[in-house]
Amino acid sequence: MAQLWGGRFTKSTDQMVYDFNASIGFDKRLLQQDIEGSRAHVTMLAKAGILTDSERDQILSGLESILKDTEDGRLEITNAYEDVHSFVEANLIDRIGDVGKKLHTGRSRNDQVALDMKLYTRDRIDETDALLKELHEVLLKLMKEHIETYMPGFTHLQKAQPLTLAHHLGAYFEMFLRDRSRLTDIRKRLNLCPLGSGALAGTTYPLDRDLTAELLGFDGPTRNSMDSVSDRDYLIEFEAALAMIMMHLSRFCEELIIWNSNEYRFIEMDDAFSTGSSIMPQKKNPDIAELVRGKCGRVYGALTSLLTTMKGLPLAYNKDMQEDKELAFDAMDTATSCIRLFTGMLAGITFNKERMQQSAMMGFTNATDAADYLVKKGVPFRDAHSIIGRLVLACIDEGKAIDDMSLDQLKTISDVFEEDIYDAISLKTCVGKRLTKGAPGPKAMEEAITFYEAYLNS
Ligand code: ARG
Repeated sequence: MAQLWGGRFTKSTDQMVYDFNASIGFDKRLLQQDIEGSRAHVTMLAKAGILTDSERDQILSGLESILKDTEDGRLEITNAYEDVHSFVEANLIDRIGDVGKKLHTGRSRNDQVALDMKLYTRDRIDETDALLKELHEVLLKLMKEHIETYMPGFTHLQKAQPLTLAHHLGAYFEMFLRDRSRLTDIRKRLNLCPLGSGALAGTTYPLDRDLTAELLGFDGPTRNSMDSVSDRDYLIEFEAALAMIMMHLSRFCEELIIWNSNEYRFIEMDDAFSTGSSIMPQKKNPDIAELVRGKCGRVYGALTSLLTTMKGLPLAYNKDMQEDKELAFDAMDTATSCIRLFTGMLAGITFNKERMQQSAMMGFTNATDAADYLVKKGVPFRDAHSIIGRLVLACIDEGKAIDDMSLDQLKTISDVFEEDIYDAISLKTCVGKRLTKGAPGPKAMEEAITFYEAYLNS
């Protein structure tokens, strides 16, 4: 058991207590951040005259060797240490002797862990954003390909009005755009450096907190030492952002699962992203989409867990806060792998254009446009509504779309119908007439795509 605090104790820790208390099993993934923080700390200590340049250099090279040896597998992070901070300090002292004991001058594990978690979270925010950018690129490519792929738009999962696949995908582009802007906000808000806050009340050493903040890429130091060591807001915000991303992915997956079903057959999933059944040879299941949808729950769980952990904590640091890590790491790992998998799956989907178009026609999504056609020919809207209602009934009887009825058949319902009805209710016309900003019409879609292109290039 390598502990940093034995002096005050007369008895050694019970093994069960030691194990329960230790965080090394999961905080070892903060090694790089811990060493990065220590590097900045000693560099600052030497600049402030608290360490000599030679002490600084010995510590820096000791830290470097610890990082290198752990990466190369020559040094193992074992449960013999309480946490990653003890691991680094104990190994440093082993390697460079007494001078290693000076590393922790003017620092507490409380501001150290606050720093490590912020540095780690910042990297994971950047990683998440980069993955969402890749997803955005796939979405935009598909949108450009499907400006004229007509499909039914749904409300209540009932066919409503015709639109295009590009427009449908555009809705998801918007969701992920908001997700990314949330990440930008969170990153900006978290980017103040807690190092130098000590255990809770700062330190008596003349630390240059502006310098450490700058060395670590922060916009400046935090303003209140108590808040610095007890703030986990940024992590909660990130977990909330991840929960939102998962919710968006899950909705998308739900739609892909429906579109992939035997009844819809709007899409065909790539074999590389589907799985089979051990008993039913005909099966090709959308397991990846189902798993992404399923994993949403554990990311929500991490958010609820940390909110609950934090709600009763008096200022400043309490050991409860060690519980911020495991589920947060799991949420980060889960969300990033889901975005990655989802992007690959989306890129490999074949869209069955014919089927989508046929479905829009068979669903009478152009019925409103057919009524508008009659209105343009002078029929009062209420009468037009009832005529088209009767026409739809006749179509259902025949198992046909409005477009498939002959002019003679149409004329038995109303003699106002002329040959030009077919063009007026074609999906191309129906969608083409939707001109308002944000609508699926080609003009509005082009504007949207130009905007998305500029957004991705900025
Ligand atoms: N492992 C601890 C954590 O994750 C590090 C901070 C320990 N500080 C303390 N005062 N016990 O929160």
